[in-house]
This record gives sequence, structure tokens and C-alpha cells, in this order.
Amino acid sequence: MKKFYIISIFLLLLLISLTYLYRNKVSENRKEDIAAHHLIDSFNSLPRAEQVKTCGSCHIKEYENEMKGPHGNAFFMLQKHLAYVDSKQYDDADYKFYINQNRGTCINCHAGDDQYKKILTSIPENQDSFRVYLEDHADKRPPIRKANKDSFITGIDCLSCHYDGNRVITNFDFVPKAPRSSPPYCNPKGSVLFSRSNTCITCHFEEYKGMVKMPEIKSSDCLSCHQQYDDKGKGVHYIYWRHDDKDHPQPEHLKIMDDITARYDTTSQKVIIQWRNTKLPHPIVVFIEPIVYFEVIDGLGKVLGKSEIRLNGRDAYNLNMQSRGYKALPGISGISLPLDGKSIFDTISNIKVSRNNGALELKIRGGEKSQYWLPDSTIIYSFQKRIKLY
Ligand code: HEC
Ligand code: HEC
Ligand code: HEC
Ligand code: HEC
Ligand code: HEC
Repeated sequence: MKKFYIISIFLLLLLISLTYLYRNKVSENRKEDIAAHHLIDSFNSLPRAEQVKTCGSCHIKEYENEMKGPHGNAFFMLQKHLAYVDSKQYDDADYKFYINQNRGTCINCHAGDDQYKKILTSIPENQDSFRVYLEDHADKRPPIRKANKDSFITGIDCLSCHYDGNRVITNFDFVPKAPRSSPPYCNPKGSVLFSRSNTCITCHFEEYKGMVKMPEIKSSDCLSCHQQYDDKGKGVHYIYWRHDDKDHPQPEHLKIMDDITARYDTTSQKVIIQWRNTKLPHPIVVFIEPIVYFEVIDGLGKVLGKSEIRLNGRDAYNLNMQSRGYKALPGISGISLPLDGKSIFDTISNIKVSRNNGALELKIRGGEKSQYWLPDSTIIYSFQKRIKLY
């Protein structure tokens, strides 16, 4: 009996001390929790530009590169475009009319709301359902940011791609350090919905959907081609675009016009230009217009013949515009670059070589317009090459 009392008292004391320890631990965790929530709340109540700067204060390289690239500038480029269309310089009445009716919808992709807070939350966390979901909702775009208009200036920013409203989402294989080294609103979590391609689909669905496997291409993940890498092969978080800075020169694998070859046929006196694509694994968005200008010059620099190739989706896009009650937009119908190994051909006829005009060369100059219906004066040149013909 005595033994029983001693054991009971011992167990009771043990229970009391354990409870005490546990309660202390819980209240410590609770304190930490409250502090964390407080920090998350105050982060969430900052103006958007301040939030982005806060992310940038720790992730300095990512911030600097991101702000120089297409996404950090997406709202700025949109504003610039709208100002140009509104100005006296631009005189196409039909496009002005279209813009006046639709300018509210442009913001969705050029400064849309955060993917992981809105669009991606209703989907079960696995890759397959994500793709099926997006395919079923091909026109699903990021919703508009609810915050005031000032929040648009950061364009597509860190939060658009990484933030779920409470913490940061990153690559699936991310392993956090213990103890946590980042603030509670960072505290990254890996997700299968986040990947080097998935993160791009909501706004770049055309490229994703039309992606093909080509023998020349190793990986079809978007960032493998579109992100800049350092000497060690680590991504620097800079995404190439057509307004690239001088300190981010485009790599060879993005120069699609480098695939162009040409030869001179002496019997028919024709220059035959061939373009077999080995670099581009997906269709180009219908409204973009890459243009290549060709000039055949002789040894004295005289131009003997000219030609050009335009890549655009004008015919398809205009049908779509007309089905929505708008007029066809101006511009010259182009072709698309085949993704199946077939070539585009172009010929320049009547090229006569004589003893006194010497060597023949093909001068190639290429660039891109952001929209095929804009005047050719808006082209941004990015490519130049000469091919010896004779
Ligand atoms: C579905 C998403 C989406 C919507 C909605 C959208 N855009 Fe875009 N926009 C893009 C993407 C993606 C690009 C980049 C395409 C590229 O450069 O290859 C782009 C590029 C542009 C560019 C080129 C900017 C540059 O760097 O030269 C302009 C101008 C533009 N959009 C204007 C508009 C206007 C005006 C509207 C509204 C009528 C609009 N966009 C609506 C996704 C969108
Ligand atoms: C267009 C979407 C997008 C935007 C905008 C974006 N990120 Fe990322 N970020 C990614 C993707 C995708 C990865 C994974 C890259 C990889 O695996 O190479 C990534 C990777 C990272 C990484 C991991 C290390 C690295 O550099 O690869 C950090 C840190 C990061 N981002 C911070 C930021 C910050 C800070 C901003 C804002 C200044 C930002 N990101 C804006 C998509 C984005
Ligand atoms: C006070 C500094 C600090 C701030 C502010 C901060 N982070 Fe971080 N971030 C870190 C640290 C430290 C890590 C590494 C965490 C780890 O390894 O466990 C990290 C990790 C990350 C990663 C994962 C890196 C990887 O290798 O995949 C991403 C993405 C990221 N942060 C984005 C952001 C974004 C977006 C913001 C703004 C919402 C932000 N961070 C704010 C310090 C910060
Ligand atoms: C929230 C919408 C959105 C998301 C998500 C997004 N983009 Fe973009 N992207 C745009 C818009 C809008 C532009 C046009 C920016 C401009 O020129 O004004 C753009 C431009 C680009 C360009 C430059 C095209 C050119 O004109 O040269 C590339 C490349 C690109 N995005 C790749 C990606 C990749 C890769 C991802 C995923 C890591 C991604 N984007 C995620 C909306 C988005
Ligand atoms: C094997 C390399 C490769 C892969 C993978 C790749 N691209 Fe591209 N992409 C290119 C090349 C080459 C161009 C043409 C050069 C340019 O405009 O920068 C291009 C052009 C673009 C452009 C500008 C023209 C346009 O269509 O508006 C965007 C935006 C783009 N890609 C987005 C993506 C997205 C999103 C993915 C993933 C779904 C992707 N790319 C995957 C090579 C690639």
C-alpha cells in the first residue's frame, strides 16, 4: 500500500512538472507565433514598392537583375505604349478605338495579382492537375491587383511570382535551413506548382502550349533558355528580352536569325535564302513581329536586290479581332517559323555578277517589333550578319 502511494505521488509530481514545462514551451511558441504574425501583417500593409524593396534588401542580386528585365518593366512598357497610341505621333484610328475600349484589361498580365495567392490556390498540389487546370482555363489570367493604382508600378514583381500572402513559395526541392534564417514573410516553402516553367504559364500560355521536342534542344523548361547564367552555371535571375541592357548580351542560343543560310545559283542568277529553325521550340506570340531584311551587295557596295521575311500571326489575330467586332489591324501578313525541321525559303532574282563588280555578299539585318500593326519605325534591331555568296 505504501509503495502504491509513493509511486502515485511520484507520477503526480512528474505530471505537474511536465505540464509546467509544456505550457511554458507552448506559450513561448505562441509568443513567437504572435511576433511572426505581427511581422507578416506589417509586411502585408506596406505599399507594394516598399514590399519589393524589402525582398530586395536581402536578395540584392535577384532584385537588381529582376528590375532590369522584362517583368520589372512590364507596367512601365505598357504605359509607354498607351502614351504612344494616345499621342499625335500615332494615327491608326482603329487601334486607338480598340485600346480605348480595352485598356483596363491590360493590367492583368502587366501588373497582375500574385499567382500563389489567387489563381493557384484552388488547385490540388500536384503537377498534373495544375496543367489540366490551366489547359481548361487557357484564358485564365492573373486577376487585377486590388490595391490602389500606385501598386502597379512594380510590374510583375517578386510577390507576383513568389508570395502566397503569408510566405514565399519556391522550387519544390527547396530545403530550409534550421533554425530559420529568413523573416516570417519569407520563410520559403517548396511547391510542385512552382517550377522553372509552371511559374510562367499563366501569362505565357501560347509558348507553353505549343512547345515541341526538337533534336537540337536539351531542355524545354522556360528558364533554361531565357534566364542568364553565371560562369558556374547558376541562374542570376535575369530574363533576356528585346530591350536588353548592354551588360546582359543575348546568348547565341536565342539568336534565331543565326539559323539563316544563303547561296548564289550561277545558272538561274538567283540568291536562295534558307531558314531552318534549330533554336526556337515554341510558337512566337501572334502579335510579336520579328523582321529580317536582306540586301545583296556587290564588291563596290552597290545593292543588287532586296527582300524581307516577317514572322507574325496577323491573319489569325485579325480573324479573332473581327469575331469580337473590331476592324482588322494594319500591318503586313507574315509567316510562322516552322518548329518541325522544315525550312522557310526566299529567293532574290536577277542577280548578275560581272567581272568588274567583284564579290557578292548577303547583308542580313534583323530585329523585332512588339506588335505587327505598329509602323516599321518602331523596330528594335538586334541582329546583323554578312554571308559571302560568290
Ligand atoms: C494574357 C496576358 C496579357 C494581356 C491581357 C496583355 N498583355 Fe501585353 N504582353 C503580354 C506578354 C506575355 C508580353 C510579352 C510578349 C513578348 O514580348 O514576347 C506582352 C507585351 C506587350 C507589349 C510589348 C512591350 C515591349 O517591351 O515592347 C506591349 C506594348 C503590350 N504588351 C501592350 C498590351 C496592351 C495595350 C494590352 C491591353 C489591350 C495588353 N498588352 C494586354 C501579356 C499580356
Ligand atoms: C516571373 C516570375 C518571378 C519573379 C517576378 C521573381 N522571381 Fe524569383 N524566381 C522565380 C523562379 C521560377 C525561380 C527559380 C529559378 C531557378 O530554379 O533557377 C526563382 C528563384 C528565386 C530565388 C532563388 C535563388 C535564385 O536566384 O535562383 C530567389 C532568392 C528569388 N527568386 C528572389 C526573387 C526576388 C527577390 C524577386 C523580386 C525582386 C523575384 N525573385 C522575382 C520566379 C520569379
Ligand atoms: C531579412 C532578409 C530577407 C528578406 C527581407 C527576405 N528574404 Fe528571402 N530569404 C532570406 C534567407 C536568409 C533565405 C534562406 C532561407 C533558408 O535557406 O532556409 C531566403 C530564401 C528565399 C528564397 C528561396 C531561395 C531558394 O534557394 O530557393 C526565395 C525565393 C526568397 N527568399 C524570396 C524572398 C522574397 C520574394 C521576399 C519578399 C517577400 C524575401 N525573400 C524577403 C532572407 C530574406
Ligand atoms: C504575371 C504575368 C507573367 C508571368 C507569370 C511571367 N511573365 Fe514573362 N512577361 C510578361 C509580360 C507582360 C511581359 C512583357 C514585358 C514588356 O516587355 O513590357 C513578359 C516578357 C517576358 C519575356 C521577354 C520577351 C521579349 O519581349 O523579349 C520573356 C523571355 C519572358 N517574359 C519569360 C517568362 C518566363 C520564363 C516566366 C516564368 C519564369 C515568365 N515570363 C512569367 C508576363 C508574365
Ligand atoms: C530551347 C530554348 C527555349 C525554351 C525551352 C523556351 N524558349 Fe522561349 N524563346 C526561345 C527563342 C530562341 C526565342 C526567340 C528569341 C527571342 O525572342 O528571345 C524565344 C522567344 C520567347 C519569347 C518572346 C517571343 C514571344 O513568343 O512572345 C517569350 C515571351 C518566350 N520565348 C517565352 C517562353 C516560355 C514561357 C517558355 C516555357 C514555356 C519558353 N519560352 C521556352 C527559346 C526557348
